[in-house]
Amino acid sequence: MSIEQSRDLLPRHGAGQEPLHDLLDLPCAIAAEIVAADRPDSRLVIDIGSGPDTVLHRFLAALPDARGVWADVSSAMAALARDRLASYAPRVDFQLADMTDMRGLPFPADVIASSHASHHLSPRQLRQFYAEAHARLVPGGWLVNLDHTYSASAEWDRRLRAARTALIPLAPAGHGSHDIATPPTAAEHLGALRAAGFTDLDVPWRVFPTCLFMARRGERDG
Ligand SMILES: C[S@@+](CC[C@H](N)C(=O)[O-])C[C@H]1O[C@@H](n2cnc3c(N)ncnc32)[C@H](O)[C@@H]1O
Repeated sequence: MSIEQSRDLLPRHGAGQEPLHDLLDLPCAIAAEIVAADRPDSRLVIDIGSGPDTVLHRFLAALPDARGVWADVSSAMAALARDRLASYAPRVDFQLADMTDMRGLPFPADVIASSHASHHLSPRQLRQFYAEAHARLVPGGWLVNLDHTYSASAEWDRRLRAARTALIPLAPAGHGSHDIATPPTAAEHLGALRAAGFTDLDVPWRVFPTCLFMARRGERDG
């Protein structure tokens, strides 16, 4: 895939789409702030499905002792991310990795983050992703996932997406410009997080169908 084709997969990053991009920077900032207040000495942050990056730079700014791992299945995305993360280059490792099999990634991590990537996963893969993340976090470490969800009610799904399109005209009208399966509901995310072993979890930000899920691994989890 060329870099130009990669850009086409990213409706939020195109020319003139700053309103939505700015809106989605807020949950990244909220997540980094919450983690920095809880684990200011964090050493390792992994961003999986990192793409051209919206999340990792926020954590590197908020956690000065941390190294970051940019991880994605796409080498074309790595080229975009190297520009975006240039000012943090000495602290960032780039690794091609699939979020359905994180065995090649370093661990334990203080933070495993992802944004706008988990909607590519089936419900079974989502549960596996959260379970793997839980196992690969240090006790007290954080799982952060910002992604579109599907509403359990078709009517609410229509309302939310219509309101988003009306208020942010450049937002994609559907689930995005690429062919993806129906994303999991917010309840399915929370259920999968609980099934993975997370008990300390919440949705600290939600706008339209996009939710920020945060879950902290318990200090005494096995
Ligand atoms: C819409 S982009 C989001 C990029 C970035 N995280 C953001 O929020 O702007 C989705 C990214 O997920 C990556 N991706 C899709 N499936 C993946 C998988 N199974 N494992 C790792 N990355 C994946 C794609 O290559 C792409 O870079």
